[in-house]
Amino acid sequence: MEQLETKLKVSNISKTFFNKKDYFTAIEDVSFDVKDGEFLVILGPGRCGKTVLLNIIAGLVEKTSGSVIYDGKEINGVDPEMGMVFQKTALMPFKTVMENVELGLKFSGMDKKKRREICQKYIDLVGLQGFENSYPNALSGGMKQRVGIARAYANNPKLLIMDEPFGALDAQTRYSMQNEVLRIWEQEKRTVIYVTNNIEEAIYLGTRIVLLSKCPASVKAEYTIDLPRPRDMVSDEFMNLRTKISENTDLSV
Ligand SMILES: Nc1ncnc2c1ncn2[C@@H]1O[C@H](COP(=O)(O)OP(=O)(O)OP(=O)(O)O)[C@@H](O)[C@H]1O
Ligand SMILES: [Mg+2]
Repeated sequence: MEQLETKLKVSNISKTFFNKKDYFTAIEDVSFDVKDGEFLVILGPGRCGKTVLLNIIAGLVEKTSGSVIYDGKEINGVDPEMGMVFQKTALMPFKTVMENVELGLKFSGMDKKKRREICQKYIDLVGLQGFENSYPNALSGGMKQRVGIARAYANNPKLLIMDEPFGALDAQTRYSMQNEVLRIWEQEKRTVIYVTNNIEEAIYLGTRIVLLSKCPASVKAEYTIDLPRPRDMVSDEFMNLRTKISENTDLSV
């Protein structure tokens, strides 16, 4: 197999939250690499520390110890090359779908014609054509999530970080969105870090899975998934892998 370059190196990350009387450790000594062009899935039970970990990688939350190296440089703060799709998309309520998607590009000074062209492409890609002029309160939860995805893609991030982006969607929409994300990843060769608590989703999407323990999150195992795509969720190989990973998974607490 060709040797891929390391895009991101997460080393010995720990995070303890302190308040006046107490402290709480959410992440304990987590290390893993993400290779350029990889679709890395972080799989972990509910409330194990997945969002905190992603926020540390994205420079949104301070770590207690450890380091995050992106393209050879230590991250301190938000890096414009990273794009994040949050677990719950926050949209600007008084801006339309198009205006929400184009915010980052507008901020960067791109002219209107160019940014509208780019944003339209991603609005179409996530299946929101016809809703460009709608306001968020007229959209379903799944549609809002799609706006968040279009917005993240439109900024052309080199590293796309997705935090359980489809957790709130119905099964059918979720499946079609997973395939969209794979299609864009295959077409545009971006590096993706994708968080989920769902084993099937992890095996369906990932080139590799980093399995986290229950809170405080530590790395329990890593699995390289080299099943051919599109992956058949009821094939023997898929089911065997599912059994193997679930035997090693902590129950949600
Ligand atoms: N700012 C904070 N102060 C104190 N504790 C926090 C803070 N942020 C998160 N935590 C705690 O850290 C733990 C992990 O939270 P986190 O949101 O990362 O979990 P998660 O794995 O993303 O959960 P879910 O699957 O529900 O999204 C939780 O117990 C949470 O209460
Ligand atoms: Mg979370």
